[in-house]
Amino acid sequence: MPNENNDLKPVKSDDGNIDNIIVNVKNLNFYYGNYHLLKSINLYFKKNSVCTLLGPSGCGKSTFLRTLNRMNDYTEGAKLTGEVLIDGKNIYDKSVDVVELRRNIGMVFQNPNPFPKSIFENVAFGLKIHGIKNKDFIVERVEKCLKYAGLYDEVKDKLNKSALSLSGGQQQRLCIARAIATNPSILLMDEPTAYLDPVSTSIILDLINSFKKYYTIIVVSHNVQQSGRISDYSGFFLDGELIEFDESGNFFTRPKDKRTENFITSRY
Ligand SMILES: Nc1ncnc2c1ncn2[C@@H]1O[C@H](COP(=O)(O)OP(=O)(O)OP(=O)(O)O)[C@@H](O)[C@H]1O
Ligand SMILES: [Mg+2]
Repeated sequence: MPNENNDLKPVKSDDGNIDNIIVNVKNLNFYYGNYHLLKSINLYFKKNSVCTLLGPSGCGKSTFLRTLNRMNDYTEGAKLTGEVLIDGKNIYDKSVDVVELRRNIGMVFQNPNPFPKSIFENVAFGLKIHGIKNKDFIVERVEKCLKYAGLYDEVKDKLNKSALSLSGGQQQRLCIARAIATNPSILLMDEPTAYLDPVSTSIILDLINSFKKYYTIIVVSHNVQQSGRISDYSGFFLDGELIEFDESGNFFTRPKDKRTENFITSRY
């Protein structure tokens, strides 16, 4: 739940994990029917870091991202083995409350996808789903999230207007405001700037950079240059395998695997 004092900073999770790891993926395999897509993925994400996941189209980046908040649960014929530990607990355990899991893990998609509701209601949506009824709290929080997403000044006089009347770049910032409203500790972003103009892209990249004070951010991207600019860690997927995962400084300047090097030098 959001903090009682309506602070955007998430309640610190238990630091019982070694090395500040928040997400630990262990021997993850994923199948669409007989198609074995993700193969023995092992990696971890540290708290308050930005990680970008790169790789050519169809290599499984989006599927992988969706395994981190159980979004593939609804896909017919999908099967997963292995573990995704978040704060040390396997999110695929039967006891896990998926609604609470998704509150803790916000998601932003490639296509800005605001609900066909007002700007205000888009951001308030998650709070209401989670049973928050205090109107003052909701108003204050919507305002904070819009400010935090760098959108407030542009929309403060039209909060009751349809979200669909906003530009693409504004809609994407609204989706970010919506994603942080429930106080997640992790943000998943699947090519969040893919359809945006350079100015909107730059705004979102700056936001990502400033957000890591509060969240762990995992971003799928096609764009090597952008990834180098924003990420602390980077991973390279190819044909459903994680080829390389490292601190971005090493990843972009001294990749260990030739295939990573080929990708970052645009040979795919
Ligand atoms: N629901 C599904 N059922 C069957 N196969 C699927 C499904 N969704 C994705 N796939 C297949 O899984 C593979 C990986 O898809 P995914 O969307 O994860 O790739 P991606 O790396 O995100 O690609 P892109 O960069 O184009 O977004 C593709 O071959 C795709 O056709
Ligand atoms: Mg994708």
